[in-house]
Amino acid sequence: MSKKGIRTLFEDMTGAKVRLSPQLRARYGGDIAFGKAKGRPYIFNNFVSTLDGIVSFQIPGRSSGGTISGFNADDQFVMGLLRSLSDAVVIGSGTLNDGSSTAFVPAVICPRYKKEYDALRKRLGKPREPMNVILTASGNVSLDKPIFRYPNLKTLILTTDRGMKRLKERYGKALNVTEVRSVGNTRSVAPRKAAQILYRKYGVKLLLHEGGPTVFGEYLKAGIVDEMFLTLSPQVAGRTRGKPRLGFAGQTIFSPDSAPWYTLKGAKQAGSHLFLRYVRA
Ligand SMILES: NC(=O)c1ccc[n+]([C@@H]2O[C@H](COP(=O)([O-])OP(=O)(O)OC[C@H]3O[C@@H](n4cnc5c(N)ncnc54)[C@H](OP(=O)(O)O)[C@@H]3O)[C@@H](O)[C@H]2O)c1
Repeated sequence: MSKKGIRTLFEDMTGAKVRLSPQLRARYGGDIAFGKAKGRPYIFNNFVSTLDGIVSFQIPGRSSGGTISGFNADDQFVMGLLRSLSDAVVIGSGTLNDGSSTAFVPAVICPRYKKEYDALRKRLGKPREPMNVILTASGNVSLDKPIFRYPNLKTLILTTDRGMKRLKERYGKALNVTEVRSVGNTRSVAPRKAAQILYRKYGVKLLLHEGGPTVFGEYLKAGIVDEMFLTLSPQVAGRTRGKPRLGFAGQTIFSPDSAPWYTLKGAKQAGSHLFLRYVRA
């Protein structure tokens, strides 16, 4: 952790302001505010990237965001804070299967602030943990993962008919450790469809997208990423044609005419890490 804590260089506080406790405010360098979306959740992400735009080394056991941030305590604090403000955290099966996190809840990433995060959720009238939503088209999710046994955590697997069939065949009744919902006989779970289900059926108003890049790129393409939290970590990962390490947009590409633009909403600094925040232009 940086000795001086997180320093706010610039922050636009437009939106619904959340007053943080004195401890959280002191650590974060201020309060926090979010906008609202109409008829769907307000969607924001949280990625950590190297200076050359890479979000995973894609080396087994060393592919998570932690390796990118250098397991930076300030980044982990921000991740915990953003999780504690969310109604749900969505990830793809790739991020779940890489096994770097037991559950996508505040205290797993930053146990030191557990009491503060819990108190914040209680004050905001939210359940103990944000629901964890796993996206899989093929049903490639193992129920042996600790996420399905984490206390007080509601999990939802959003999948297709094909994925549901595979999960049912593999697990039968054991599937009731989690909720599973199919969006129908489609190739994958379309981002707007997922957002609609989470909003209408589960009351999700603030949705934290923790990727990974494959899934997140699809949400960018669908034009429903309202905000991006991006931690810039001061290291360089490099890439070659044979090792096309991913940026946060994954395999999604845009043309100069279709590329989404974002406006800087905040910039914070702790040591040599930058905590940037962008809102859709
Ligand atoms: N640096 C960071 O901040 C950060 C953040 C997040 C993740 N990561 C890292 O990035 C790596 C994971 O990358 P990734 O891109 O493979 O992970 P991912 O996006 O979490 O998962 C990709 C998988 O999700 C499923 N999927 C994709 N689109 C879907 C859709 N529309 N509907 C339903 N299912 C869909 C597909 O698998 P199936 O259909 O076969 O299940 C796909 O292979 C991990 O190592 C992770 O730790 C880094």
